[in-house]
Amino acid sequence: MSTTAEPTDVTALAAAARDNLWLHFTRHSGFESAEVPVIVRGEGAYIWDARGKRYLDGLAGLFAVQVGHGREELAEAAARQTKQLAYFPLWGHAHPSAIELAERLTAASPGDLNRVFFTVSGGESVETAWKLAKQYFKLVGKPTKHKVISRALAYHGTSQGALSITGIPGAKADFEPLVPSTMRVPNTNFYRAPEHADDYEAYGRWAADQIEQAIEFEGADTVAAVFLEPVQNTGGCFVPPPGYFERVREICDRHDVLLVSDEVICAFGRLGHDFAAKRYGYQPDIITTAKGLTSGYAPLGAVLASDRLMEPFLHGSTTFMHGSTYGGHPVSCAVALANLDLFERENLYGHVLAQESAFRGTLDRLLDLPIVGDVRGAGFFYGIELVKDKATKETFTADESERVLRGYLSDALFEAGLYCRADDRAEPVVQLSPPLICGQREFDEMEQILRETLTGAWKLL
Ligand SMILES: Cc1ncc(COP(=O)(O)O)c(C=O)c1O
Repeated sequence: MSTTAEPTDVTALAAAARDNLWLHFTRHSGFESAEVPVIVRGEGAYIWDARGKRYLDGLAGLFAVQVGHGREELAEAAARQTKQLAYFPLWGHAHPSAIELAERLTAASPGDLNRVFFTVSGGESVETAWKLAKQYFKLVGKPTKHKVISRALAYHGTSQGALSITGIPGAKADFEPLVPSTMRVPNTNFYRAPEHADDYEAYGRWAADQIEQAIEFEGADTVAAVFLEPVQNTGGCFVPPPGYFERVREICDRHDVLLVSDEVICAFGRLGHDFAAKRYGYQPDIITTAKGLTSGYAPLGAVLASDRLMEPFLHGSTTFMHGSTYGGHPVSCAVALANLDLFERENLYGHVLAQESAFRGTLDRLLDLPIVGDVRGAGFFYGIELVKDKATKETFTADESERVLRGYLSDALFEAGLYCRADDRAEPVVQLSPPLICGQREFDEMEQILRETLTGAWKLL
């Protein structure tokens, strides 16, 4: 397979990308003076651009490519399924790869999450969970319970329902008015704790209690669900303080509010477990997933719901009037099964748990740089918060963020051979989420590239 196009072809390819493609979440004005980067190949933890340059994939594509790139087994699984039954919907009929995958997911899931509703993406999983919560409460005689609580800065998707649940004002403003009935509570950013900054557990109790307060302010008879990521991505890998989820569970039980664990990033090994709720020992009512379920080799999402939620749908003419053409696509399900086989064969959950402290220890070395304020995360999922002043935790101004993060760091990291994410939707952070096959060699490579580029960024401040 040719991996490098001729230089003139690359120029034409990049020009066609600039002229015809509409890239996601991308400022197109940047391509007036710069070429659109075109990625043509992946193998293991690395990707190559059309000019043949290699990059370490420090983000697993977009928090997805758990098993690494170029895995023959997954391509073969897709080919086998395509030949046997390329497509059939899950409307009134089932097909074997969806059945087998649903069995496998429910066998692994915590507690009584024994039903799987397949979707195509994470955002659709979130939409599905909200609609399910709304209809469930109508069916059990609590028709006014429909609102959703989520956390500041949390990202849950871009469709209008999922975007309403999202807590990033800048991502929503252009599309308001969105779906009403969602509220935000504080996340678990202990680095910038407004309360109990010297007591992690007390801070966790405070953060959980903000959820109860929001439920009470709105009226528990109007609130259907709380959507929380096990480790929140946006803002830079906010981990839950000890006892946080236990307390949230108690609050949800007290007010008959569903706890939705949005594990679109965190499930399937990112935190060293199949389901991240297991890591923190809580029992969700619904888990939303996507991404790592197929390691990104085919689009697929899955919503796991408890028996209790399915029960009212099992009688008479009751129907969940929701679905899509490609939700639970046979090829995607077959790829997911082969992906989960790879996880088992290569003990990837065990690998992440065994290597996570080495990953953290390697990234912690960066704390000697004046620009690195905090390194936080879990498993193979870390955020590095950048500051102007370590002692005061002073953050960048909007202008500095523009100049240093967008104007320098993003490009400099990529130029230096590391694909990852410099994100300024909140305080500036660099997000890392490498394929789960990585080890010390890749950790060192990330650290070394980050050290050079962050040193460069500091000089610009
Ligand atoms: C926690 C969470 N939920 C939902 C989504 C939306 O997933 P998708 O982009 O597949 O729609 C994302 C995407 O990154 C996510 O991180």
